[in-house]
Amino acid sequence: MTLYLGDTAPDFTAETSAGPISFHEWAGDSWVVFFSHPADFTPVCTTELGRVAQLRDEWDKRGVKTLALSVDSNEDHAKWIPDINEFNKCEVDYPIIADEDKKVAVLYEMIHPAEGDTSSVRSVFVIDPAKKIRLSMTYPKSTGRNFDEILRVVDALQEADRGECATPVDWKPGDKIIVPPTVSTDDAKAKFDDVEEFYPYLRTARVRESATGGGAVGCS
Ligand code: BEZ
Repeated sequence: MTLYLGDTAPDFTAETSAGPISFHEWAGDSWVVFFSHPADFTPVCTTELGRVAQLRDEWDKRGVKTLALSVDSNEDHAKWIPDINEFNKCEVDYPIIADEDKKVAVLYEMIHPAEGDTSSVRSVFVIDPAKKIRLSMTYPKSTGRNFDEILRVVDALQEADRGECATPVDWKPGDKIIVPPTVSTDDAKAKFDDVEEFYPYLRTARVRESATGGGAVGCS
């Protein structure tokens, strides 16, 4: 099954380093960053899982739960976590799925056999409180991810939902947003502050503080 943006993130049950979870129930009303990594006791993964733990306050500010997966056992996770904590001066306080039978990795298409072996690649899913997949990315095993970028995407998705808008290249909180092509400039002026029209199809603006949004918008 191919997973597309906007699809409901498949539910599953799994054993994790923090006990068994039922995914949708565990996610509750939070956003979720669900990411896989190839294997325990590997160097790039050690840096990645530590970085996710170091960013705990940033995830919390945004209402995000983090969940990792590898196809290793809970026994391995328990032996490896102290190394991650020591090397990164952090506390891994989020669950790592022990997906030895690859049930969840297959469900989320995290196994790419041409990438060396049948361990999971570096997949990332951002899932919203309605359990919809809002972003998916796949990195090769050799390249550690940039979790600051994943935080930036969460910020952009949350701002887009709040303002029913889009965000431009390299957007970060405080920058002006993009008025969706589906909204006329007159309607944009009624809805947003500081609207500027560069071309009829390229308008920037600011989302009002009072905006509460209506969920995901497309650009077509
Ligand atoms: C690593 O995490 O260091 C790694 C894992 C699999 C392949 C290459 C690197």
